[in-house]
Amino acid sequence: MMDEIKRIAIMTGGGDCPGLNAVIRAVTRKAIIENHWEVVGIRNGYNGLYYGNFVDLDLFNTSGILQEGGTILFSSNKDNLFKYQVEENGKTVIKDVSDVGVENLKNAGIDVLFVVGGDGTLTSARDFARKGVKVIAIPKTIDNDLASTDTTFGFSTAVDVATEALDRLHTTAASHHRIMVLEVMGRYAGWIALHAGIAGGADAILIPEIPYNINYVAAKIMRRKEIGKNFSVIVVAEGAKPLDGEMVVQSVVADSPDPIRLGGIGNKVALDLHELCGNESRATILGHLQRGGSPSSADRILSSRYGIAAVELAEKGLFGNMVTLKGTEMSYDSLEHVIGQVTKNVDPNCEMVRAAKSLGIVFGDEEVDVYRVLGDQKVSDRF
Ligand code: F6P
Repeated sequence: MMDEIKRIAIMTGGGDCPGLNAVIRAVTRKAIIENHWEVVGIRNGYNGLYYGNFVDLDLFNTSGILQEGGTILFSSNKDNLFKYQVEENGKTVIKDVSDVGVENLKNAGIDVLFVVGGDGTLTSARDFARKGVKVIAIPKTIDNDLASTDTTFGFSTAVDVATEALDRLHTTAASHHRIMVLEVMGRYAGWIALHAGIAGGADAILIPEIPYNINYVAAKIMRRKEIGKNFSVIVVAEGAKPLDGEMVVQSVVADSPDPIRLGGIGNKVALDLHELCGNESRATILGHLQRGGSPSSADRILSSRYGIAAVELAEKGLFGNMVTLKGTEMSYDSLEHVIGQVTKNVDPNCEMVRAAKSLGIVFGDEEVDVYRVLGDQKVSDRF
């Protein structure tokens, strides 16, 4: 099978994510150093596949990018070639233009297409595999919500950034007796909030998988005040919602495969808590800071391992698959299976949620007095 491969292409699709360049570098290095394959980069995700926007990659132009955020190949989270917006007779129509992509690959002599992306990008990768393109997929998203793999690269960096933000917000919270609310990304999954909330010592973690009652969160804050802690730090996932309410939609991007953009729940939580607890409250929406910049060391390693494992799959002729991390080992799963599953969400009864609750962190799903052992005692003042 290896002998049949002479030239491969790699593209990055969807939102940028720390570690994309490390994957590009790893795929290119192994392909060239060990297999003597030629490597082509496709710019701007599927948009570049449609327009034939290809660039040769080599050991020189993929050097020095391991620690760089973003993607040297650029990305797009709008261009679905199976449902593509084209102008016809002065009108915008939606057409399946995937044959143009297949033809461009053929004309460029590409034997295998490596696609780095999240569920939107990889759904198209599966559809190209169904059309006979030899596809190898590599999972990417800061949200960590892709099925079949334990961890996607980019997640660790996002958690680090959110944790640092919580540390910094603690300072203002404590100095001003405030409630500081940090809203983090993650779409419909609460992975970033859960991990950062534990790492950053949040008083409450609100996630989409556990709809909250704000009164239960307020009760913990009031109890903290009683014991002498007149401040609180809350982390809320952008997809979190109250028991009797809806997620907050920030905008709708009409031509995106996943048009809903969440955002704004942090402001609601801060306002509600101000009203219920009396403390001044502020919300910080961390947004794209979680996606930009240099990848953490864990993400550099994971991205490099994913890239190497992806080339190994191609060497073995295992096309139509996505590389995965299972425990500590690299493995793979078919794109058909990966895309057929629902996204990976936090199990409300999982060990990490239980651990967080044992630490006294509340999720707003039950009223608990985590300080009941103190009775009406106050914690000793440090100053
Ligand atoms: O999927 C990654 C992600 O950053 C989500 O956490 C977030 O909801 C979304 O993308 C934001 O999309 P955009 O960059 O289009 O605003």
